[in-house]
Amino acid sequence: MKGIILAGGAGTRLYPSTLSVSKQLQAVYDKPMIYYPLSVLMLADIRQVLIISTPEDLPNFRKLFGTGGEIGMKFSYAEQAAPNGLAEAFIIGDKFIGDDSVAMILGDNIFHSAGLTGLLQEAKKIKKGGHIFAVHVHDPERFGVVEFDRRGKVLSLEEKPEKPKSNYAVPGLYFYGPEVVAEAKNLRPSVRGELEITDLNRKFLKRQELDVTVLPRGLAWLDTGTHDAMAKAGSYVQIIQEMTDYNIACIEEIAYHKGWIDQKILDKTIKKMGKSSYADYLKRIEKERV
Ligand code: TTP
Repeated sequence: MKGIILAGGAGTRLYPSTLSVSKQLQAVYDKPMIYYPLSVLMLADIRQVLIISTPEDLPNFRKLFGTGGEIGMKFSYAEQAAPNGLAEAFIIGDKFIGDDSVAMILGDNIFHSAGLTGLLQEAKKIKKGGHIFAVHVHDPERFGVVEFDRRGKVLSLEEKPEKPKSNYAVPGLYFYGPEVVAEAKNLRPSVRGELEITDLNRKFLKRQELDVTVLPRGLAWLDTGTHDAMAKAGSYVQIIQEMTDYNIACIEEIAYHKGWIDQKILDKTIKKMGKSSYADYLKRIEKERV
């Protein structure tokens, strides 16, 4: 399975912070925002990842991750010329995806819970169609919304509805079979001029090829779209890391535990991280490995 991180967009709600630096490169507490969605793909055992961003921001992502070798991964990079919608990622990623299935995650989506890995491993079994998630929110009108019947069967999907039919929003993590590329190419732009992932999901729903897993209530799905949301996400990460004594989205830790990198490579990263608390954590991880 391949992975895509869609990290473009303008981030206008975070101006002036995003006037010169991509939203997804800004720190959420102690690490760049993109580490969080990247860690989700890693937990799904995805090692080939395409990072899509704006022509202006893409060089900075390259600078951050390079080939991906430092975490035992293989990164590719592609531009999205304008924010033409989430479904455009599959058209841009056409060659990269090839005949594989693919997981796409938005560069500003943070997921955290015990048991997340199990959910991901289940979703990644997909060979055909789509597998998405639903999460209970108080402001569904801001998202794609799923309507269920009493038995949990999906009845409808609507993008940012004025009158939402439920409180279940679709978060920015999607799994598809390889046919998603052809399906995305057949989409027409919506009234707001975007290739909508909700339209794509509707196609799969119509053919009864869409699985929707409701995320458990202990799972945190954090928004980072506004200044307040960013500050809260930072506090969440700080508190959880302190209270649990483990870091969230430490990508080198995941790579090391999975055996994707050896101690020599980890040592190099530790040196690179200087006198930061991130470096201290990596030193501990190296020492404690059993
Ligand atoms: P949004 O939050 O909808 O957009 P944005 O990040 O540009 O923010 P703002 O509303 O403040 O202007 O996008 C969600 C995520 O998807 C975000 O990480 C940006 C990304 N995205 C793209 O990369 N390409 C796109 O075409 C769109 C619509 C979003």
